[in-house]
Amino acid sequence: MRHLLTLMEYKPHEVEYLLRMSRDFKTRFMAGEVYTPLFPGRIVVLYFEKPSTRTRLSLSAAAAQLGMHPVATSPNELQIGRGETVADTMRVLSRYAAAVTARVYKHETLEEMAKYSSIPVINALSDRHHPLQALADALTLWERTGRLHNVKVAFVGDVSNNVATSLAVVGAKLGWEVRLVGPKELWNTKLLDDLSEDLAKTGARVYFTDSINDVMGVDGVYTDTWVSMGFEKEAEERRRLLSPYQVNQRVMDIAGRKAVFLHCLPAHRGEEVTDDVIDGPQSAVWDQAENRMHTAKAVFAYLLR
Ligand code: CP
Ligand code: NVA
Repeated sequence: MRHLLTLMEYKPHEVEYLLRMSRDFKTRFMAGEVYTPLFPGRIVVLYFEKPSTRTRLSLSAAAAQLGMHPVATSPNELQIGRGETVADTMRVLSRYAAAVTARVYKHETLEEMAKYSSIPVINALSDRHHPLQALADALTLWERTGRLHNVKVAFVGDVSNNVATSLAVVGAKLGWEVRLVGPKELWNTKLLDDLSEDLAKTGARVYFTDSINDVMGVDGVYTDTWVSMGFEKEAEERRRLLSPYQVNQRVMDIAGRKAVFLHCLPAHRGEEVTDDVIDGPQSAVWDQAENRMHTAKAVFAYLLR
């Protein structure tokens, strides 16, 4: 059974294929073909241990557009909240649903779900990875630059988080230059080892730097919250470490006029990004959010076909 847990387990040509399919779904949607009922009558379980706006709604829309019925749920609504095991829950869901998407605190929960599932398990965000987001980010950068490969992007801020990690994974698959710009305390250099095979294969470059001047000349400047869900205990320390890495107009000026601004959202205006940047002419954040719907359709179509 094929799952989507990190995208690391996907080959470069598969990531490219998912993006081409996403673009195709979007083109058809924009031309008025909203409904492409590839899987009529099936249900998709959307399981959320943490809050979500975009992931929950883009997956719901994607499922509906493919003829499926999304069922959003959370631990407290299921017997899992009263101690039924992940294994037993997955054995049962596998009998009803075509796929399960899950947003979890611990990435290991997804691995456990996948182990006992006979339907695809799709990561809807864990503490370590956010692959669905990264696919939408790549589609957005492709639209804005005209390039699927050879894109230069700087992720500024909490370079240890799920969104930064998944951006680097996708960049490694597509031959990008990904600059992870943030304080040394948050560098996860093991990621570079994990990606080494892809980097060698695609010619991509992924590196950490603590110099904000390294946003110069990129196609995209990306940021995300300083305090991810589940990391609230570290909030004070994160704010102290990350305040020099706010993406404001000065940073966009260093990046240059051609750079787009990216954010997975939700934004904490006045913290990791200023209003003038997120609401300014270089911002692509609403396209990014919209693209989540089309990349989700591609993922469903690919895994359920
Ligand atoms: N970007 C993203 O995953 O947003 P939500 O938390 O609203 O789903
Ligand atoms: N890094 C953020 C992303 C939210 C979509 C978090 O995990 O909270």
